[in-house]
Amino acid sequence: MKTKKFRLDSGNIDLEAVRKAADTIKNGGTVVFPTETVYGLGANALDGEAVKQIFAAKGRPGDNPLIVHIEDFAQLKTIAEEIPVKARKLMEVFWPGPITFILRKSENIPDEVSAGLDTVGVRMPSNMIARALIRESALPIAAPSANLSGKPSPTTSEAVIEDLDGRVDSIIVSEDSEVGIESTVIDMTKEPPVILRPGKINQKDIQQIIGEVQLSEGITTGLAPEKPASPGMKYQHYSPRAEVLLVNGSSEEILEKILNFIDRNPDKNYKIIRTRNPKEAYPSSLKTVSLGKNTQEYARNLYRELRDSDKEQADVVLVEQFPIDEESIYIADRLLHASGYKTI
Ligand code: TXA
Ligand code: MG
Repeated sequence: MKTKKFRLDSGNIDLEAVRKAADTIKNGGTVVFPTETVYGLGANALDGEAVKQIFAAKGRPGDNPLIVHIEDFAQLKTIAEEIPVKARKLMEVFWPGPITFILRKSENIPDEVSAGLDTVGVRMPSNMIARALIRESALPIAAPSANLSGKPSPTTSEAVIEDLDGRVDSIIVSEDSEVGIESTVIDMTKEPPVILRPGKINQKDIQQIIGEVQLSEGITTGLAPEKPASPGMKYQHYSPRAEVLLVNGSSEEILEKILNFIDRNPDKNYKIIRTRNPKEAYPSSLKTVSLGKNTQEYARNLYRELRDSDKEQADVVLVEQFPIDEESIYIADRLLHASGYKTI
């Protein structure tokens, strides 16, 4: 199919262009749009046939449910059967923003969205273009990340075009994603609530508002969970073509491990993603990049660096592991998935 592209600037949104994209949603088509976390691949969340096209475009397994994006609280009532008091409190603090709540779904939500579960994930994004698109469509929009299944989520419109040009009706071309990593997913149907996917809004932020919440198994330990917390967590995720290896230890140990590894396997193309050692620590013949100066920058740059490794024809991406704490655990989680839990 021929994909229409619209350029939209969040500082000065062209409403005419938004309306054209909204018409595509209303007519049962697919539109890629920016959000503050990553780009999303959207369709009318109330139309099962429209939603099927999302799965086809991504090559996504049908048993992996989608998040429904809304613009105001009135829409929430049509999607969720009930909104627990704790969920309401969290929504008041963190919405619009990068957090998704799993709630009991209403009958309006087709099985294609919830993958047959009796729950639905709901998020109110803060990105102004996403909000305008939902508002002009006057519909809730189901949207996974706008990548081919298994690839890192797209944080730039170039990445979206690379994966989905010719596979969707429209793409909104816009700025790079501000957060760069997908939303926190929290299951509010459990007591205490359970964080299924860590995100920028962390366990401590949530506990400050509602008290006890749990982190699902496998997130903190760095070991592969035996049972995936949410359906999407069982698939290999966020991976470029290259093998990704995490390198643990002190800065000196990391440097030594990396140089030894390359010595033992000299015939490969390497990309080294630095968080601990300076550029000068490495021989100038090696390709290294900095992931950034702080966790915020790590989050913003990670998926782009993983994707670029394909273009750079790296065989192996060696990532200097950063200290894992409350603030960085969501980034470490994605890296663990990208590496298939392989560390040296
Ligand atoms: O930041 C985000 O959340 C982005 C933007 C576009 O909003 N979306 C996103 O969607 O990351 P996706 O489909 O790539 O990831 C959604 C995750 C999957 O792991 C899925 O299994 C889980 O949320 N999920 C969705 N609905 C669920 C449900 N009812 N119960 C449990 N997990 C659910
Ligand atoms: Mg995804």
